[in-house]
Amino acid sequence: MNPLNHVAIIMDGNGRWGLKKKKSRNAGHRAGLNTVEKIIKETIKQKIKYLTLFAFSTENWKRPKKEISFLFNLLEDFLINKIDDLDKQNIKLKILGIKNFSTKLNKLLNKSEKKTSKNTKLQINLALNYGSKSELINAFKNLIKNKDKFNEKNLSQHLQTKNIPDPDILIRTGDTKRLSNFLLWQLAYAEIFFEKKLWPDFNENDYNKIIKKYRSIKRNFGTIT
Ligand code: FPP
Repeated sequence: MNPLNHVAIIMDGNGRWGLKKKKSRNAGHRAGLNTVEKIIKETIKQKIKYLTLFAFSTENWKRPKKEISFLFNLLEDFLINKIDDLDKQNIKLKILGIKNFSTKLNKLLNKSEKKTSKNTKLQINLALNYGSKSELINAFKNLIKNKDKFNEKNLSQHLQTKNIPDPDILIRTGDTKRLSNFLLWQLAYAEIFFEKKLWPDFNENDYNKIIKKYRSIKRNFGTIT
């Protein structure tokens, strides 16, 4: 059975779900947050150590201002209401991406990371204002600045995911098959699952089916056995 340490998810389909069910994209984001909570619970149950969630890409700034501020308000409320609970559950929160939000949100993100930094049960990496290409360019720049030898190990040490094992599984919901500039280096050997359901409809059963399928796959990492 394949070990499973890290699941990464592109949570796609909130907008479509919201428009279809409630004539509002933002209602989809709110429902998407419920799915986030369900999936965190199931990840703990499955004893998976790392969960990376793509919540806001560098390209998402092109969305209407109203939707962007709704998303960040949702995130603020989530952190204000849930960070103590996450901490009690021994969950560590790490932000991937550039924290250039409002002073209030930046402070809240830093505080949440600091508060949970010693926790060990599950690490949630929340990708916010994250883009993989710019992460890689920064990593190369730092590699050169430090005069480090050019190799995979040294480059990985300059990524924001430094010391985090690469994802074993990538799930993308929303019936779209693309990587959207997400963890391009780190996903080199991930098993990829494209899921038809929109993120708010995705549930523990769907998640467990993917985990079961993953466990049964023969992972060769380029060799033949
Ligand atoms: C993609 O769906 C989803 C996002 C850009 C935001 C993800 C946010 C959440 C799941 C809720 C908030 C999460 C936290 C942790 C506070 P889309 O809007 O691109 O959907 P579409 O493809 O149907 O338009």
